[in-house]
This record gives sequence, C-alpha cells and structure tokens, in this order.
Amino acid sequence: MSAVESAVKKIAVLTSGGDSQGMNAAVRAVVRSGLYYGLEVCGIQRGYQGLLNEDIFPMDLRSVGDIIQRGGTILQSARCKEFMTLEGQQKGADILRKHGIDGLIVIGGDGSYQGANKLSKQGINTMGLPGTIDNDISFTDYTIGFDTSVGVVVDAINKLRDTMSSHERVSIVEVMGRHCGDIALHAGLASGAESILVPEVPFDLKEIADRMHHNFACGKRHSIIIVAEGAGRGEDVAEQLHLQYPNLEPRVTVLGHIQRGGTPTPRDRNLASLLGDFAVRKLIEGESDKACGVIKGELVLTDIDKVVNSKKEFDHATYELALRLSQ
Ligand code: F6P
Repeated sequence: MSAVESAVKKIAVLTSGGDSQGMNAAVRAVVRSGLYYGLEVCGIQRGYQGLLNEDIFPMDLRSVGDIIQRGGTILQSARCKEFMTLEGQQKGADILRKHGIDGLIVIGGDGSYQGANKLSKQGINTMGLPGTIDNDISFTDYTIGFDTSVGVVVDAINKLRDTMSSHERVSIVEVMGRHCGDIALHAGLASGAESILVPEVPFDLKEIADRMHHNFACGKRHSIIIVAEGAGRGEDVAEQLHLQYPNLEPRVTVLGHIQRGGTPTPRDRNLASLLGDFAVRKLIEGESDKACGVIKGELVLTDIDKVVNSKKEFDHATYELALRLSQ
C-alpha cells in the first residue's frame, strides 16, 4: 500500500528509556523510509517528556545524515512520570493530533512499549522498535544495541585477562541486565568466562568458590566470573569468594554505562535499518499497537500487549555450553 492510499500521512519518531547503540540508525531508517513512502516525518526530542512539552520538529533527509555510526540518540531520551498517568497519556495523544500526527514509532524497551500501548488506547497508531542493550524484549531474537554492548564487554574482558593472568587472579565483571542475563551469557560464551551469574539461573557461591579454587589447583592462571546486575553485586560475590578461600583475592570491575556507548556494530545498524523500514511500512498498511522484531531472520509483528506481558525465555542450552567449554 502506498502513502497515497493509506490513512497515515504524517508520522513521528521518539527514543525512550535507556539509550542503546543503533538507535540513531533506527531513527535514520524511520525518517528516510517515511519520506521515501511519501509521508511527512517529525522527530520528538527527549521521549515522552518531549511529547508532553511539544518538543516536536520536522525531519528531512539531511537531518539524519552522518548518524548511522554514532552511539546514543540524536533525539535524546528521558524517563517521564507524567506520562504514566491517564491524564499524561490523553495529553500526549491530543498533542499528536494537534500536530496532525497519525502514527508514532517508539524506539525503546519495555517501559517505552507500555507508553506506546497506552497511546494506542487513546486512538494513536503506534509501532514499537526494540531499542535496549539488555535483549530483554520478547518476540524478537535480538534488540538494537545488544550486539554492540556484548562487544564492549568482551573487549573489556580481553584486557582484564591480560592483567589477571599476570597476577593469577579471579576477575569479577559486573555487567548490565536487570531482569535478563543475555549480556552476561553472550559475553561469557564469547570470552570463555568460567562462571556466569544471571537472574534466570539459581547459583551457589560456595560451589563457585570451590570451582575457582579447583581451577587454580588444576593449573588455570586466572578465572573470569561475569555477574549480571540482576543476579547480584560483583562486590558481594568477591567478598563471599574471599571468605571461603582467603588466598583468592578477586578484583571487581563494574562496566556500567560504558556498555551503552560506542559505535554500533554492523549487526546492530542493519537490525535497526531493517526494523525501522518495517515499522514504517506496517504503519502505512494500517497496523497499530504492534512491536516489530526479528525471529530466526524473519521480520515479525506482535501485539505490544503480548510482548510486554511475556518474559523472554532464557537460553539454558547455550548457558550450559558456555560453562562446559570454559572448564
Ligand atoms: O535498560 C537498560 C539499562 O541499561 C539496564 O541494563 C540498566 O539497569 C539500566 O538501563 C540503567 O539505567 P539508567 O540509565 O537509569 O542508569
């Protein structure tokens, strides 16, 4: 369907929640695809807060030039308490109508999706794009930013391995992931971590301490333990290990927001580009209140309601593999 036949003539795009690498590539895809299909496209600055502040401006081909390689988001992001209220949502929908905007593309995580779902209940056509490093969104294999953040963690672990092996130490690396251990898992598999602590799998610190002790006895020169923030604090794990085996003097590195920065990988840029274009096409076709994702290489559309109400399945087989290969 072309924009001429579609009820959607003018769309807007915003980024919301924690930023992620590749959000800019997604904004670029939305803007350029929207214009290509004959729509007017606006940007909204600072997420839902910017919507309520009417921080809305027209975007053209040049406004998204030179951003595909940049981390962060040119549209900036914010968390907005007012938008969590019904009054806030009604106000947001009224502002969009006032500007003649009949479709909104929201790039963000779970909370951002909930906002889009609420706006659709106020009569606005919405589409969600999964933009978060955590990879914690259901009905998509990957989220935009996840691949880059895993690369950041692996790069840090490569460096830590150099110094940890010189000093024959255990390195504890705390990574992001409040409810989802995917960053820890994928970085752990890629870096050969000896232990991976995630919120989805119960663990016993005594057993982990025994394993670290055993590793050194068997000739390992150093060990890496990755801790997803949702599984606990790296400092607490270090303390427990040291209590069990005083000769173990683990060093803790909290990677923090470093994981959200840096140039997006080609994989994240391409995912963002495919999903951005897909979201625009689906809005034109009359779809609304949907989340865009990719499953086994196929672009898929799922009700936002369904996405926000289901928990992403953890890949236990890959988890077992990572631990087996790191013995
Ligand atoms: O949701 C993405 C995320 O990076 C989480 O992994 C992390 O817990 C959180 O955002 C940090 O948020 P803030 O930007 O508020 O510190």
